[in-house]
Amino acid sequence: LLSQAGDSLWHTQRITSSWACLSGVSISDICAAHFSCFRVPLSRLPSVRSRLRAANQLDEFLREHQPDVFSRRYAQCYPAAQHYLRMDGRSTERLYNFMDAQFFGQISLGKPEQNFTVVFDTGSTDLWVPSSYCVSQACAMHHKFKAFESSTYAHDGRVFGIHYGSGHLLGVMAREELKVGSVTVQNQVFGEAVYEPGFTFVLAQFDGVLGLGFPQLAEELGSPVFDSMIEQGLLDEPVFSFYLKNNGSSFGGELLFGGVDETRFVSPINWVPVTQKGYWQIRLDVVKVQGALSFCYRSTQGCQAVVDTGTSLIGGPARDVLLLQQFIGATPTAVGEYLVDCVRISSLPVVSFLINNVEYSLTGEQYIRRETLNDKEICFSGFQSIDVPSPVGPVWILGDVFLSQFYSIYDRGHNRVGLAHLSEKSKISV
Ligand SMILES: *[C@@H]1O[C@H](CO)[C@@H](O)[C@H](O)[C@H]1NC(C)=O
Ligand SMILES: *[C@@H]1O[C@H](CO)[C@@H](O)[C@H](O)[C@H]1NC(C)=O
Repeated sequence: LLSQAGDSLWHTQRITSSWACLSGVSISDICAAHFSCFRVPLSRLPSVRSRLRAANQLDEFLREHQPDVFSRRYAQCYPAAQHYLRMDGRSTERLYNFMDAQFFGQISLGKPEQNFTVVFDTGSTDLWVPSSYCVSQACAMHHKFKAFESSTYAHDGRVFGIHYGSGHLLGVMAREELKVGSVTVQNQVFGEAVYEPGFTFVLAQFDGVLGLGFPQLAEELGSPVFDSMIEQGLLDEPVFSFYLKNNGSSFGGELLFGGVDETRFVSPINWVPVTQKGYWQIRLDVVKVQGALSFCYRSTQGCQAVVDTGTSLIGGPARDVLLLQQFIGATPTAVGEYLVDCVRISSLPVVSFLINNVEYSLTGEQYIRRETLNDKEICFSGFQSIDVPSPVGPVWILGDVFLSQFYSIYDRGHNRVGLAHLSEKSKISV
């Protein structure tokens, strides 16, 4: 019933406003003319993990860059804790992990514009890029923001710290003109990273991160990017949508701000209420393996899940995911990745996620990731144990393995996530 009510609401809106970016051949013209929605093309590039693996450095990396080892070794490099903006302890508990990120887009900061490649991440809320004052090895490998070359730069000076799997990223806050797609956001708060920890960032194909989570999740103070867009009247509707392509080509997908692209999916949209504002967190009723109730069914509350474009696999509590790996016959490697025999993919069980009474099913072809290593194809399970600590966890994380099979919509106006099946066109082409 809830879902039907949501659908009819959706239809009214679609007719009475320019919520949707409309279908047809000239979508981008309509966007530009109305100035109500705009597109950011995303590209798909190899993740840090696959680059390490290709260089035969993954084992060594995972052994040496355990978070606690790193923190102990570099503890003296962190400023005293009271310099952090927020002291409610959350920053030390949140664990970001971009080691598997592979969808990136471009933004620019300042005048004249300085370009950066960023992860558009619904699992965090801050915007940061490397600073020209950063001397970490990671910064040397990336575009760095040069404040002194920009006429629109405004210094802030407060310090922020973000905890990553490989250590603390440290930065100084500032304000700048930000260009995303075809729009300019004025006076946007962002972080200039002056210290980037660990090897993850050295190999990363992205310079920084643009978070699209709720403001409650922000470490930096001031309006996050999407809130600025809303406040500055750049959007008709406080909505953005992701189309992530699961296959080949340099076109990795598209992020649309201000609406939805009706050509990318088929109705109806399943609107799922956000249960906790911070992450895009929703209720996951049940996980089934080959039709049989397998996880989350014991409690009438189901499980919680976060919809996270910055995570590439599907994560879940270790207890459940270890069992799931057994169900699909995946076996662990020395570094805890799970492999399946590539010839078995077509006979693997279907894994489905029941969300708000709609079932989202993934076949083996869809949840197994193929990679070529030394001319040999290897096949990885798309599921990963991630024990997110309480109070957020236990929680499942619906990353790109899931999101590249469905169209996802993030609606801040109604605090809900929309999921829809991809149109035939989206499955095969750009
Ligand atoms: C930044 O990117 C835009 C769009 O891709 C391009 O036109 C411009 O030349 C780039 N600017 C610099 C300084 O690279
Ligand atoms: C990926 O794209 C290629 C051609 O571009 C196609 O042959 C193949 O079936 C696609 N694979 C999937 C899983 O969609």
